[in-house]
Amino acid sequence: QEGYELWLDYKEIQDPTVEKSYTSFLNNTEVIGNSSTIQSIKKELQLARAGFDFEDSEPNNESKLIIGVQNKLPSTLKNQINTKNLGEEGYKITTINNGNTIVISGNSEIALLYGTYGFLREMQQWNDISALNIEDKPKIQKRVLNHWDNLDRTVERGYAGFSIWDWHLLPELIKPEYKDYARANAAIGINGTVLTNVNSNALILTPHYIEKVKALAEVFRPYGIQVYLTARFSAPIELGDLDTADPLDENVKKWWKNIADEIYAEIPDFGGFLVKADSEGQPGPFQYDRTHVDGANMLAEAVASHNGIIMWRAFVYSEEDPDDRAKQAYDQFIPYDGKFADNVMVQVKNGAIDFQPREPFHPMFGAMPNTPLMMEFQITQEYLGFSSHLVFLPKLFEEVLDEDTYSNGENSTVAKIIDGTNSNKKLTGIAGVANIGTEKNWTGHPFGQADWYGFGRLAWDPYIDSKDIAQEWLKINFSNEEDFVKPMTDLLIESRETVVNYMTPLGLHHIMATSHHYGPGPWVDDLGRPEWNPVYYHKADKNGIGFDRTASGSNALAQYAKPIAEKYSNPKTTPEKYLLWFHHLPWDYEMKNGKSLWNNIALHYQKGVEQVEQMQKTWATMEQYVNEEEFEKTSMLLAIQLEEAKWWRDACLSYFQQFSEMELPTGVPEPE
Ligand code: GCU
Repeated sequence: QEGYELWLDYKEIQDPTVEKSYTSFLNNTEVIGNSSTIQSIKKELQLARAGFDFEDSEPNNESKLIIGVQNKLPSTLKNQINTKNLGEEGYKITTINNGNTIVISGNSEIALLYGTYGFLREMQQWNDISALNIEDKPKIQKRVLNHWDNLDRTVERGYAGFSIWDWHLLPELIKPEYKDYARANAAIGINGTVLTNVNSNALILTPHYIEKVKALAEVFRPYGIQVYLTARFSAPIELGDLDTADPLDENVKKWWKNIADEIYAEIPDFGGFLVKADSEGQPGPFQYDRTHVDGANMLAEAVASHNGIIMWRAFVYSEEDPDDRAKQAYDQFIPYDGKFADNVMVQVKNGAIDFQPREPFHPMFGAMPNTPLMMEFQITQEYLGFSSHLVFLPKLFEEVLDEDTYSNGENSTVAKIIDGTNSNKKLTGIAGVANIGTEKNWTGHPFGQADWYGFGRLAWDPYIDSKDIAQEWLKINFSNEEDFVKPMTDLLIESRETVVNYMTPLGLHHIMATSHHYGPGPWVDDLGRPEWNPVYYHKADKNGIGFDRTASGSNALAQYAKPIAEKYSNPKTTPEKYLLWFHHLPWDYEMKNGKSLWNNIALHYQKGVEQVEQMQKTWATMEQYVNEEEFEKTSMLLAIQLEEAKWWRDACLSYFQQFSEMELPTGVPEPE
């Protein structure tokens, strides 16, 4: 099935010299041990051998691949391979014996699995392995996918079919997809998965479902993937015959402790709970006049003795504070810095509103030095054209990770907050809301796979250049030909700015159609809550457009460190990409290029359209490098993307023009 294999499709190596230098290593391997993880490694090597089509080649007896945990290596090798600095999951690929022996080692079998995937990745890219020496270890501990999957198999904000978890037929029926899902994730270093939606159903905590969760955990375990569940805060009432879910109530505490014990009895390496509380109608501690800390720490205590963790989400906002939704999470959480239990992480979305095509980084990242903060990215494209638009998200993730929070002086990047180096945090994590479903290629859009892949690579190492990720994925997935890789890398890298241009240029945000968030909808659509109405975000009127978040407005800017707050308080020194996020400016405001704000807005929308046209043109020349099915599908999807980029441009410009009352600049067509 085209696309099903994801990045584990070991395509034939077309270059005979390269092929020759690889075959012996794969045909002459020794994997030390016998556990289920070791079996998985052997199986993967076999699949690679078959895919690369090495099976019939003569092994050259001199070359050899040895894979083993350091302290189980033969003594002659043990002394040559030092794994001291690798931690539990890091690996080392060492070439010895005049290039004839390659050793993959580490301190655990999971490290070997990661090393094996790392080694195969070199081969998939046709890299020279004659003197291969790699030392690599993850910089973030908990690298987790968040599935917003419901028990009825619908997926909240999922655009690739239904949930891959077939609850009805579990635990008896183990689909091959479960194992392939684990392989694909292990190959990019993901080591955890939250199986259920953050808008949680308490039933998942009942024995009937735990048995099913256990079956999945057993498939994932050899691949180093822990399972987690979402915990519905009111579960003690809904399931437990209690009349309260007050986190300080002894019976409630006991109830959760029992649930945790029951789960751990079945799944000893269960990861813990992800919790959305007091947000968008979800139950939480506030109802009992308790705090986020009370709620999180109570659950933390229930799982602590089992080494479990709580990922407590900071995506909270309420209609009672209509001033500026962007400020609320910070205001609610900052007073509790340092008060959360050791096994709690606060999971924060990358921006303060909600997974927009572009948002400044969430100010909480610079403001809780004593609390482990977990990054939450969205891989599914809720606000970015679902699975119909091609957008390479690692570019977006990278932009956020590279931003300087100044929390501990200059160069306190978001990446350093997340990986703990900025303030020596002991627990570190990163989550990606999955874009996976029952579509035969998992993600719907063939290029959606690149976003899953890229999330995993950045979770492993948040400092990898998104361009390298793009190249790597293109080579592995399609072709190593320079004439393909180069232009397509540029296309992927530019695709993020493209979507910003045709949806929300210059700091505009949340002007998608309400509820489903697909397509433009900057006009009034009163859903009852002001902050669900797009006009709340762009505030366009005769005087101008944009959200004043400086001191003369909501002052959300004050939540950032001084160097940022100062710089962004003046529109002239605010990066133009964030201009209307922080400022309300007149339509004729003069921008850096000497043109009016109105003209710049219009030109950005137009540019976005032209960039999609360019994507189409580039893709049209790539037929020879990709398989037919993916070529056709991507071509058709790009045609949709172009139509919709025009739809965005025309809808937004004609809507805003009624306020600006200005002509469109040359080069921007009149809306149809
Ligand atoms: C967004 C999204 C919801 C989701 C929520 C969350 O608002 O539209 O579907 O539940 O984020 O992250 O909790």
